[in-house]
Formats: sequence, structure tokens, C-alpha cells
Amino acid sequence: MPIRPHARPSLTAFEFFAGGGLAGLGLQAGGFRSTFANDFDAAKARAFRANHSGTPMVEGDVWGLSAADLPGRPDLCWASSPCQDLSLAGARKGLEGVRSGAFWGFWRLIQALDAEGRGPRAIVIENVAGLLSSNQGRDFAAVCTAMAEAGFRVGALEIDAALWLPQSRPRLFIVGLRGAEGQERTAPALPFHSDRLVAAHAALPPAVRDAWAWWSLDAPPRRNADLAALLEPDADWLDADASARLLDLAAPLHRARIEAATTPGAAFLRIRTEHGVKHQRLEARFDGLAGCLRTPAGGSSRQFVVAPGPDGPRLRRLTAREAARLMGCSEDYVLPKSQSAGLKLMGDAVAVPVVRALAERLLAPALTGARAAA
Ligand SMILES: C[S@@+](CC[C@H](N)C(=O)[O-])C[C@H]1O[C@@H](n2cnc3c(N)ncnc32)[C@H](O)[C@@H]1O
Repeated sequence: MPIRPHARPSLTAFEFFAGGGLAGLGLQAGGFRSTFANDFDAAKARAFRANHSGTPMVEGDVWGLSAADLPGRPDLCWASSPCQDLSLAGARKGLEGVRSGAFWGFWRLIQALDAEGRGPRAIVIENVAGLLSSNQGRDFAAVCTAMAEAGFRVGALEIDAALWLPQSRPRLFIVGLRGAEGQERTAPALPFHSDRLVAAHAALPPAVRDAWAWWSLDAPPRRNADLAALLEPDADWLDADASARLLDLAAPLHRARIEAATTPGAAFLRIRTEHGVKHQRLEARFDGLAGCLRTPAGGSSRQFVVAPGPDGPRLRRLTAREAARLMGCSEDYVLPKSQSAGLKLMGDAVAVPVVRALAERLLAPALTGARAAA
């Protein structure tokens, strides 16, 4: 179901690392109005402006901003800080990596707002789940420590967008609240307090554990759309030769799965090491979910749709519109003209209904002193 803006957003938010503004869409649906956004990528800033004409987007490096660039006192600061170096698939340089270090560029703005008495009561840091273990857990500890030292009660949730959308997309959301009572559990509980989160919490310094909260969020009702429901009926299939070349990259198990399929599925290229040698492999799933969308920087991140055809299995690229649907964007989300720019935008983004759930059910009730409606 398309996500519509909340009838009367009353709370304000700053969006850092805003990309195409999907966090803002979820926040808006959950009762927040974005009053500031920042991203240093010109294409992302263009996409943001095309979809959020009412929100000032300041284009530039977060390290180049000062408190004077930030309007008023926000209720919430949302930071989807870059995660390349933290990704389990990436170089794992952690927060010391140049790109992930941008988190600290954001954090110094929080400190500057605090110094002026304009600090937010809520902060959300979104990242890949690899943040829990990068640098032997030191990165996660560093982020949580910074928040605890600034007076926030801090907790985290590992949320898979697959609960709302037909895409497997686990992400970590570190939520800090101060001067606001968020709903808490006395102990961790699935699905949002995963085993690896519980383990990472156990390794935090005692002062951070003292400031810790197991935030309570209800899981949504059962998802009722699968991948097939989001596919464009008229998209062009690859020709037989191109399909055959891709199918030849499938290992026997995946090839058999593809040959036996009776419904469309998702396929993606992966580098696998077999007997010490790296191979590019086509892998497919037919569980109604797409794999996690990624930015199409390398061949391994491309997603394909694979489906039974009149002469055997056929394949085509996932389109940018399909990717936008997999992220929970409504049909009026304005995509860049090029498919690759659209896929890059979506591969980097946060799933809209996940942000909405956090905003509507945890953040807004805490910040307004209201309880979320059952
Ligand atoms: C993971 S994406 C977040 C996307 C966003 N949440 C969305 O839903 O579209 C990270 C974003 O941070 C931006 N970024 C990375 N380093 C930055 C920096 N130093 N200053 C400002 N923006 C930066 C990138 O251009 C990218 O759009």
C-alpha cells in the first residue's frame, strides 16, 4: 500500500546523509516534517529536491556545515551515515574509514547544537548490521558511547524491511532519546533484538549499558505482497544469448532451482570462492523476496528478475521503478532519468515503511508524550 504523508506533522526533523529522501518520506508518514537536509552527492541532492520541494537541501560535505547552517531546534536528527566501510562485504575499515568517518562530521554538529541549547531530543543512526561487529565492536561502542555521554538513553533495533516489503534488507537503527520517554522492554525480544545485537550490547562499556534501553516496537501484521506483485509487466527480457550467458554462471543447485521455478524470482551475481578460486556466480531465490538492493558499483550488486518463459528460463534487469517499489516508495516518487542512477539511489536508501514504523510507533509517541495507537 502506498505510504501517504501524516495528516498533521507536528514534529521537526533534520535529515543528514539524506540521499533521495526516503528517510524523510517515512518520517513524514509518521508525524514529522523535515526542515533541513544535507547530502554531498549532486545526483542525490537533485533527486531529493524533486521529491521534497518544501525541505531545504544543503548540498555539500557534512564536515563543511556549522550550526549556523541549521534552522531552529529539531525534535529529531536522522543520520543514515555512509556504510561502505562497515558493510560485511566491504573493506571493514570501520569508522576510521574516510567515508564512514562522516559520522563524526555529523556528531560534531549535534555537539554544536547542544552548545547553543538547540540539540534534538531524539537521534536515529541507520547503518548496516556490520556496524555491530566492525573493528571488534569498537565502532558500535563508539557511536553508543557518544550518544550516552550526550545524555541520551540509547538502544538499537535490527530491522529487516522484509517484514513490510518483499526485499530482504536487514539494517541497524541506533535510537537515542533524552527528555522523552520511549516505550521499553525489560529484556531483549525478537524480531528486532537479534542475537548479534544482544551479543554486541553485552560487550559495551558498563556506562553505556547503564544508559541502554531495549526499545519496544511491535512487528507489523503479516506482509501480503511478494516480489511478483511489484514487477512491471512490460519490461524487456534479455535476448536468449544474454540469458544463456548468465544462466551458465549459475552453480548446479541454483541452475536446478531456476529450471524448476514456476513463478518469477530474484537473481543476482556474486563472487564466490570455490577451491581457492574466485568465480562470478548467478544465484537465485524464489521465496517471494528480492535480495538486498545495493548500489550498482560492481557487477556483483546487479539484480535480475528470472522467470519461466515460453522456451525456458529468461532474465532481465530489475528496473529502477521496481527497486523504488521494493523500498516502499509510492508511484509518484520521481526517479532520475537513467536506470543506473535510479538503481544507485535506491540501493543506498532506507526502506520507507521501516522509518515510518519507528517514527509513528516509537519516536512520535515518546516526543509528544502520547502512546502509539494499538
Ligand atoms: C546510505 S546513503 C543514505 C540514503 C538515504 N537515507 C536515503 O534513504 O536515500 C548515505 C548518503 O550519504 C551521503 N554522504 C556520504 N558522505 C557524506 C558526507 N561526507 N557529507 C554529506 N553527505 C555524505 C551519500 O551521498 C549518500 O547519499
